[in-house]
Amino acid sequence: MKKILIIGASSGIGLNTVKLALAHGHYVKAFARRANRIDISHRNLEKITGNALNIHDISEAVKGVDAVIQCLGVPMNLKLITGPISLFSKSTKILLQSLQDQSISRLITITGFGAGDSRKSISFVQRIAFETIFGRAYRDKDIQEHLIKNSGLDWTIVRPGVLTNTGVQNPKVLVDSSDWRNGCISRATVATFLIQQVESNDLVGECPVLIS
Ligand SMILES: NC(=O)c1ccc[n+]([C@@H]2O[C@H](COP(=O)([O-])OP(=O)(O)OC[C@H]3O[C@@H](n4cnc5c(N)ncnc54)[C@H](OP(=O)(O)O)[C@@H]3O)[C@@H](O)[C@H]2O)c1
Repeated sequence: MKKILIIGASSGIGLNTVKLALAHGHYVKAFARRANRIDISHRNLEKITGNALNIHDISEAVKGVDAVIQCLGVPMNLKLITGPISLFSKSTKILLQSLQDQSISRLITITGFGAGDSRKSISFVQRIAFETIFGRAYRDKDIQEHLIKNSGLDWTIVRPGVLTNTGVQNPKVLVDSSDWRNGCISRATVATFLIQQVESNDLVGECPVLIS
């Protein structure tokens, strides 16, 4: 059994990962501003209400964990296009400091296909829409990835394609940059992959793109 902190645990990939981690017998610290929205009770679940931008909240939350899964997201509204967005970089700076201070080494972070050096793998046509809608968020994710890659931790950056809410699929795990391409993938499938990473550590230092 591992003790896992899931940041961004109240919806989406994070909530899927909470459920799966519990089903695998892990102890879960589930962190979000609205952790009370997590509609599960389990003896191995600790719901933590906190803000990922608050260093005190994060340094308390990471205490005693074996691994952290970071699944933060911003709402799909006008602010995504008009910005500014700094949640990903600012929260990551705080998290990395807390992990280093407490000698916790395993970090698995969700960014997305199009972040960092995967941007060049977006087709020309898709890139126009991507830049318009997600440009601000992904420029902040670029900084987030850069910070993580230079952290000295045992990190894995997971870059899913377009997220859906269908069931668990058989994912394509594209590690080699020549294979990177966009596609769809369910949040439940991403959650399965994240738990595999906590349990196996086989993609430390890699940035796999996940599609179905
Ligand atoms: N949508 C897509 O097609 C797509 C594709 C590729 C990658 N992605 C990325 O995948 C990730 C997960 O997306 P999702 O749609 O599954 O998640 P989501 O439903 O947007 O959930 C985001 C989580 O972050 C938490 N959160 C946000 N700000 C926070 C803060 N300051 N402190 C603590 N918690 C905070 C939210 O909880 P509270 O509001 O309760 O705090 C929530 O639990 C995102 O980074 C997204 O950009 C999305």
